[in-house]
Amino acid sequence: MDTHELERRIASFEGWQYGFEFTGGVRTPVFSRAMLNRQRERRRYFFEPLLELSGGSLAGRKVLDLGCNAGFWSLEAIDAGAAFVLGVDAQQRCLDQATLVFEAKEIEPARYRFELGNALDLACTDSFDVVLCLGLMNFVNRPFQLFEAFARAGAELVVIDTEVSRARLSLFELARAYNPHELAERPFTLVPSRSAVAELAAEFDFDTVALRPHIAEQAGMSDYRRERRLAFICSKSVPLDGLEQARTRPRLPWWLRDPGAVLSAWR
Ligand SMILES: C[S@@+](CC[C@H](N)C(=O)[O-])C[C@H]1O[C@@H](n2cnc3c(N)ncnc32)[C@H](O)[C@@H]1O
Repeated sequence: MDTHELERRIASFEGWQYGFEFTGGVRTPVFSRAMLNRQRERRRYFFEPLLELSGGSLAGRKVLDLGCNAGFWSLEAIDAGAAFVLGVDAQQRCLDQATLVFEAKEIEPARYRFELGNALDLACTDSFDVVLCLGLMNFVNRPFQLFEAFARAGAELVVIDTEVSRARLSLFELARAYNPHELAERPFTLVPSRSAVAELAAEFDFDTVALRPHIAEQAGMSDYRRERRLAFICSKSVPLDGLEQARTRPRLPWWLRDPGAVLSAWR
């Protein structure tokens, strides 16, 4: 595809959430620089630990990317050596972007497929080594079915990146979606607490680590900083001992732990 045609096809979309760069200096126009930083930070936060656990690359692995959107993480998996990626999303517009990105990057067609559908109902006739469930869990209201989809995929490793409830108990918060157009189902979602994710994963025979975020550049990362979002790596048999666990949330909020700081703010 020549540069002019690529620019024309990129411009035919209303907006892009991810900054893709192509040969000839062509880029997707991202509405905020913070979004670019967010994807860089997320990569360091959960994708690099996934690579470490997998021996430094995803060479030869089959990857299932649920809620793949424009294929950003599918492309990361391909760049990390994955033999094949299946990306699934409920929005055709996202799959059109993903297809354009993969065509423009000249990824061999035998190495990927993008499918329209509800991730929860995916039949999964194939098996996969890794499932990416990034930004999807807090978009659904059938968390058990989501784990059943992981089980059907037969995955050894599952990476979950999700909004979380700050509750210490194992529960799901009912939330009204702020972006109902991106939902495949009802406008209500169930947002899990950290222990709900781990307990649910254990029910499906996964060990789980909630990863500790180390944010270098804060732009676009406020949800992670406020402990409203976490990434988890779930494993069937790969040891997770080397991963750094997120700290357990202190029982008291900061303004009760340090009343002096509150008083000084009023002075
Ligand atoms: C917040 S985006 C996350 C995109 C990407 N995985 C990431 O983390 O950067 C959520 C994506 O999930 C898709 N989605 C929401 N519910 C879905 C469902 N039940 N099945 C498949 N895709 C779904 C949306 O269309 C959207 O593209």
